[in-house]
Amino acid sequence: MATVKIFYGSTDGNTETVAEMIKDKFGEAEVINVADASPADFDGADLYLLGSSTWEDGQLQEDWDAFFPEMDDIDFTGKTVAIFGLGDAEGFSGEFVNAMGTLFDKVVERGGKLVGSWPTDGYVFEHSNSVRDGSFVGLAIDEDNESDMTEERVTGWVEKVKTEAGL
Ligand SMILES: Cc1cc2nc3c(=O)[nH]c(=O)nc-3n(C[C@H](O)[C@H](O)[C@H](O)COP(=O)(O)O)c2cc1C
Repeated sequence: MATVKIFYGSTDGNTETVAEMIKDKFGEAEVINVADASPADFDGADLYLLGSSTWEDGQLQEDWDAFFPEMDDIDFTGKTVAIFGLGDAEGFSGEFVNAMGTLFDKVVERGGKLVGSWPTDGYVFEHSNSVRDGSFVGLAIDEDNESDMTEERVTGWVEKVKTEAGL
């Protein structure tokens, strides 16, 4: 069975809830709070999932923000990575799920192979730094306004990630 590690940062618990939901869809995965992570944890898996909510007008969640400099000690070469992000498309329509874009840029810079881009269809927002070439760089989840969509979005995304990662 493929080894999957899910790293999340979550202030009010929403991203943690989605991380657990994603774990259930994979069947088996290790879920790690990034507040407790070290660069050495980014090893030994077939797939790495990184999940962050967005705070403070487009910034990484605070535990990811604290960990971010340590990502320069991680060599993502040969590693397959997918990103998910929580945000509020109504309250923060101009910076919706920006944290995904920040993580995406860092993983690309460190040599990682990204899978799991996600269409923007069905989302209503003004702007997001996580949209590249017309798609989100990962799964966007809005628990504040569209929690009824979360299960369906997670299910579809996990299937897409599995296919693209060859799992
Ligand atoms: C003060 C504050 C700032 C926020 N800033 C953003 C933002 O810039 N962009 C966004 O998409 N969501 C923003 N959000 C929404 C959160 O990302 C959203 O509520 C998320 O589900 C929180 O997840 P967590 O509990 O895992 O941290 C903000 C929420 C608060 C309360």
